[in-house]
Order: sequence, then structure tokens, then C-alpha cells
Amino acid sequence: MSLIFCSRTDDPDEWREAFAEHMPDLEFRVWPDIGDEKDVEVALVWDPMEAQLLRFPNLKLIASLGAGVDHLLAATILPDGVPMTRFVDDNLTQGMREWVLLYTLYCHRRVPEYLAYQRAQDWHRLAAPLAYDHRVGIMGLGVLGTASAAALQHIGYQVNGWSRREKTLPGVTSFAGADELDDFLAASEILVCLLPLTPETEGIIDRRLLNALPEGAALINGARGGLVVEADLITALESGRLAHAVLDVTREEPLPAADPLWRAPNITITPHVASVTNATSGARLVAENIRRVRAGDAPHHLVDPEAGY
Ligand code: NDP
Ligand code: OXD
Repeated sequence: MSLIFCSRTDDPDEWREAFAEHMPDLEFRVWPDIGDEKDVEVALVWDPMEAQLLRFPNLKLIASLGAGVDHLLAATILPDGVPMTRFVDDNLTQGMREWVLLYTLYCHRRVPEYLAYQRAQDWHRLAAPLAYDHRVGIMGLGVLGTASAAALQHIGYQVNGWSRREKTLPGVTSFAGADELDDFLAASEILVCLLPLTPETEGIIDRRLLNALPEGAALINGARGGLVVEADLITALESGRLAHAVLDVTREEPLPAADPLWRAPNITITPHVASVTNATSGARLVAENIRRVRAGDAPHHLVDPEAGY
């Protein structure tokens, strides 16, 4: 059995080594050196491949190297009936939990303002309520949203969550669906976005949504740039309606030097590093799914192509 690895951003050598440990009988091939197409039964992919996956007549599993599969579903022609899985791994979850906690505290404890005062050599004290009195709303209560909610709750924040279907999570008030979105937003002094990018969520963070947040709220987007209408975000920052935005993701990546987001006031940008795929733990999980498919079982973390995540 062969696996074809397709990514320009992940290191194939790290993955080859990790698979040698977790699945020594697997032949590891790296795009574009595909060898005999008939041998390939697993595709491990980050980069969109257009119709390339159709070349493998015996493909049994498409394993995404990312938790988000929006770019694959948008740009890849999928062979009929071949399951696709998302990347779900404790290390990826831990990375996001850390990033969300870091930037929630950064906004709540007004670090950007203190950095500006420091640059101006101005000894200036600002008020900040304790976490117990601060409300954080998490859009997307899936694997990453749930873990982030627990971390935020642990240090005392009041946490609300919004998802498609209602959730029962200890200590988290659950809001679900379009009907409950505005009530959720009105209670989000810090809005953390961990939604997948789908046809339903594209551009969801627009002027209307930003205006539904409390005055002076902060936005933290660790999910996908396509969720945000960037011109509306810049307007909200310029008017002071939004106190701060932290973006790990943008519509165009890398963000071009000329993009106005770089020069927007009160913005913090990180280069899509909130959480990164780990080859060692990742290969173990993908190997487990390959074993399941070989045994005729459904793999874990299946993508629902209809829902888009
Ligand atoms: P999950 O699929 O586990 O969770 C998605 C959540 O979003 C679910 O709660 C789902 O609701 C909710 N949701 C989906 N569509 C809607 C909708 N239309 N309205 C309301 N809620 C909706 O995803 P993960 O937590 O694993 O990952 C989330 C995203 O994070 C990924 O898609 C990816 O884009 C991004 N990501 C970014 C990284 C980075 O480094 N910046 C790293 C890893 C991931 P329900 O529970 O009801 O299905
Ligand atoms: C992912 C990502 O989706 O890293 O896993 O963005």
C-alpha cells in the first residue's frame, strides 16, 4: 500500500519518518513523484489538487493535513465515495487552546494599549475587570472551540458558545443557529472565532455582526480569513466600535505588504501559526484511520462534504 503526500508547507521528511515508526509497511511517496498510480490508496493532503486525486483508481482515504478542509473542498475534485477526514489531534488542540488563552488575556488586560503607552514613555493605568466579570463568546464549539472554552473557564471567564446545533457543556451557555446569534453576540465582550469556512459561514463577520457586539468589544479570529469581511473590520476598528482585532488568518495568505489590514489601527496579526500540525502525533492518528479503512471500518473525524466541514 502507498500513500501520496501533497503539501508545500509541511515537511515530507518529518512525515516519512513518523510513518516509518507508526506504519512501517506503508510506502511513502511525495507529490509529484507518484510512481504507479494503482498502488496509491491514501492521499495525505494540504494543498488543493484540482482533479489530481482522480488519477488514483484505488484511493480509499483522503486525509486532510488540516482541521479545516474548506480549501480542499473548494478546489479539489473528489473521487466519488472516497472518505475524507479532518486533522484532529491533541497537539493541534493544545496549540489552539494556548493561542486563544494568550490573546484573550492580551485583549482583556489591554496589553496593546500598554505597549503604546510604553512607547510614548507614559505611565498610564487602565481599568480592567477580572476575568469573572468578563464575557467571552466562542463562535464554533467543535473540537477547538470546546477545548478553548474549557481553558477560558478554568481561569474564570464567563463563556458562551455558538454553534449550529445546541451543546451541553458544563458551565458554557450554549446558543445555536441564526435565531440565537444576536443574543450571543450581545453578550460577547471578546468574540473568539473558531468556525469552519463553509458556504454558510463565508463573510459572517461583517458590519452587521460587528455592530451587534457590545461597544468596544474585541475580535479574535483563529479560524479562516474568509469568515471576515475585511473592509468592514477595518471600518469598525477605525471608528473605535471595535477596540481590537487579533487575526491569525486572512483572506489572502501570506498577507500582501500593500494590504490595508497591516495599517489598520488596533490590530494584531500572526501568520497562521495559532496551531500547527505535528507530524509525530499526526502520523499515529492517520495510521489508525488507515488501519480502520483496511479493516472495513469508517475512519474517525469524517468530513461531511454537504456541510463543508
Ligand atoms: P469542528 O468541525 O470540530 O467544529 C466546528 C464548529 O463550528 C462546530 O461547533 C459547528 O457546529 C460550528 N459550525 C459550523 N458551521 C456553523 C454554522 N453555519 N453556524 C454555527 N456554527 C457552525 O472544527 P475544529 O474545532 O476542529 O476547527 C475549527 C476551524 O479552526 C477549522 O475549520 C480551521 O479552519 C480552523 N483552524 C485554524 C488553525 C490555525 O492555525 N489558525 C489550526 C486548526 C484549525 P456543530 O457543533 O453544531 O456541528
Ligand atoms: C488547520 C490549519 O486547518 O492549520 O489545521 O489551519
